[in-house]
Amino acid sequence: HLQDDEDLSQECRDMISTLPKEQGWVANHVYQYQGFWYNPRQIQGLLSCQKHFQSHDHINNDIIILATIPKSGTTWLKALTFSLLNRNTYPNTHENHPLLTSNPHLLVPFLELNLFGNYDDDKVEINPNNLIKSSLFATHLAYVSLPKSLKESSCKIVYLCRDPKDTFISLWQFANKLRPETQVKKSLDEYFEQFCKGVSPCGPFWEHVLGYWKESLERPKKIKFLRYEQMKLHPTLILKELAEFIGCPFSKEELDEGMLEDILKLCSFDNLSNLEVNKTGISPLLDIENKSFFRRGEIGDGEKFLSSEMIGQLNKITENKLVKHGLRF
Ligand code: A3P
Repeated sequence: HLQDDEDLSQECRDMISTLPKEQGWVANHVYQYQGFWYNPRQIQGLLSCQKHFQSHDHINNDIIILATIPKSGTTWLKALTFSLLNRNTYPNTHENHPLLTSNPHLLVPFLELNLFGNYDDDKVEINPNNLIKSSLFATHLAYVSLPKSLKESSCKIVYLCRDPKDTFISLWQFANKLRPETQVKKSLDEYFEQFCKGVSPCGPFWEHVLGYWKESLERPKKIKFLRYEQMKLHPTLILKELAEFIGCPFSKEELDEGMLEDILKLCSFDNLSNLEVNKTGISPLLDIENKSFFRRGEIGDGEKFLSSEMIGQLNKITENKLVKHGLRF
């Protein structure tokens, strides 16, 4: 469906025809909107979300948004946060837990792809604001493109990012898997050049990270900034912080009973990637094989595929764009 622009509304088609256009990684083309590159379906969802996402503070108070640029560990963050929020309903992580039979992307929908992705003005009966019962959603949108009411309400945002070298290689592997056979294959060099230029899914990578980073410094109670590497190296500490941030800290009893370790084990790469649903299932919301979301899940994997020149080039861009803001990888 990432290819498909047949279902786009006239409004979206009109908008897209005015935007800068580049070759996509998976979709045929991507378009630059508010400084970031999206496929046509994302732009439709983004426009709909910006227009219709309603700020009812009594609802939005409880809403939590998980924001990432693709391949930063979204699947993992969805699983962890879902488990934290629902641990009273599903205290047993070995039996009857939704994550044992559903891929995390089914349990935590994307705002712009799943919730508002197909919504247009003429079909009021599917207005997602009427459907918002759950409180946990995800997004790949840049901070600047989030609906205004979401930024202004008291809902919380958790942003997760990852070393650009590992994110790039993860993206490249993912795009190769998803890119239809009918499309010309692209070399690692071609993808690399696009990534450095900023033309990557929801990129530029650095500006995406920076948008949330700056906001997290200004409003630490609203935005929690996390890094994949920290989560891998200090999972216990980060999970405790995450639970506190989203308003459900672990009690002493829960810690004594091993609830935190149970959640980490349930959501671990080894556990999730070996579940039947994630080995053979297809994610109906995204129309992608669940197994594509699990590859290696390691720190530093990027360096195995990149030449030393490429590593140098990525490090230099990071140095130029992020270090002055106090952010390094
Ligand atoms: P690799 O391709 O480096 O293995 P996203 O979920 O944002 O699409 O990111 C996918 C990346 O997260 C992939 O990285 C994937 O293997 C890794 N990943 C998926 N589930 C994970 C988990 N439970 N723990 C750690 N990493 C995970």
